[in-house]
Amino acid sequence: MPQEVRGVIAPGRDEPVRVEMIVIPDPGPGEAVVKIQACGVCHTDLHYKQGGINDEFPFLLGHEAAGVVESVGEGVTDVAPGDFVILNWRAVCGRCRACLRGRPWYCFDTHNAEQRMTLTDGTELSPALGIGAFAEKTLVAAGQCTKVDASVSPAVAGLLGCGVMAGIGAAINTGAVGRGDSVAVIGCGGVGDAAIAGSRLAGAAKIIAVDIDDRKLETARGMGATHTVNSRATDPVEAIRELTGGFGADVVIEAVGRPETYRQAFYARDLAGTVVLVGVPTPEMKLELPLLDVFGRGGALKSSWYGDCLPSRDFPMLIDLHLQGRLDLGAFVTETIQLDEIEKAFERMHHGDVLRSVVVL
Ligand code: APR
Ligand code: ZN
Ligand code: ZN
Repeated sequence: MPQEVRGVIAPGRDEPVRVEMIVIPDPGPGEAVVKIQACGVCHTDLHYKQGGINDEFPFLLGHEAAGVVESVGEGVTDVAPGDFVILNWRAVCGRCRACLRGRPWYCFDTHNAEQRMTLTDGTELSPALGIGAFAEKTLVAAGQCTKVDASVSPAVAGLLGCGVMAGIGAAINTGAVGRGDSVAVIGCGGVGDAAIAGSRLAGAAKIIAVDIDDRKLETARGMGATHTVNSRATDPVEAIRELTGGFGADVVIEAVGRPETYRQAFYARDLAGTVVLVGVPTPEMKLELPLLDVFGRGGALKSSWYGDCLPSRDFPMLIDLHLQGRLDLGAFVTETIQLDEIEKAFERMHHGDVLRSVVVL
């Protein structure tokens, strides 16, 4: 029987979000219904509400979530009712050219539930990133459910579903930060701080945090930054070079998504070093660089999609490290809130007051 539960809808461009009753169908083949326990508020949810992603209103927002599988459809064998899972937006297909080459973290044909959730009048909802987890329950593809150790707090676990995974993965997967490396991270919000935590986990010897906000630099220290640079006051390229014997960092992670910070990342890395772009630019942004510098400085200029994560490999591993006290995921939860407080959370996010607000159900 389809069920009616509460969910947070973005009804139209720039209209305030609201809590409404939504209809969750029974899971079909390959699908699962998940009872949501926690879901973080991410910039992407705000972009959906503003119409910055696409025009397929109404959206069911929320996508950084953890919960318990309630029921599964035909043919689902990887998860079962009662499993504690983190939801991911990279359910790999196993058949596309990336998967067939053994690189499933790039899967070019990820999938979501086939059935649609609706409003009670039958209007079809577009779930954010194919998840839609600011709701008491949601319908996803079973491959979007990644089972992890159930002893972790749901508010903490859910964050791995998006921003925190993107940051940690930018360091450990895309940047391949290793023991003894020097790393600089430009932009110390939730994503940049996660890149700092990931760099510490990977054994980086020097981690330089760059931001324009001293409050963010303070938090970055707690995450593992060994040095901080306020780039409003100090030229970050010079500062990073000075802190690395005059050479630049082995890996520079750009977690803002702007041309000027990308340029800083490009020039703040050592010869043959790596730049990782994990901040997401907007369509009008352009970058101009001397091609000779691109050639002459060598190394790698990479982008990191969702931290190049493979959920089945990375989520359980990072939760285990957290439970062992080696990765403080709890530090990313600034506050826990209720379903009807998301507008306020957007406001606080906009002002840079939080790393993550997490809805707890
Ligand atoms: N130089 C350095 N830091 C900057 C600059 C700048 N020019 N402009 C902004 N920042 C800092 C902000 O002060 C803030 O600490 O970047 C940080 C951005 O953090 P958040 O707004 O919390 O964003 P976050 O969730 O970390 O995401 C960062 O990654 O996934 C993408 O879409 C996301 O593009 C966004 C980026
Ligand atoms: Zn694939
Ligand atoms: Zn997100």
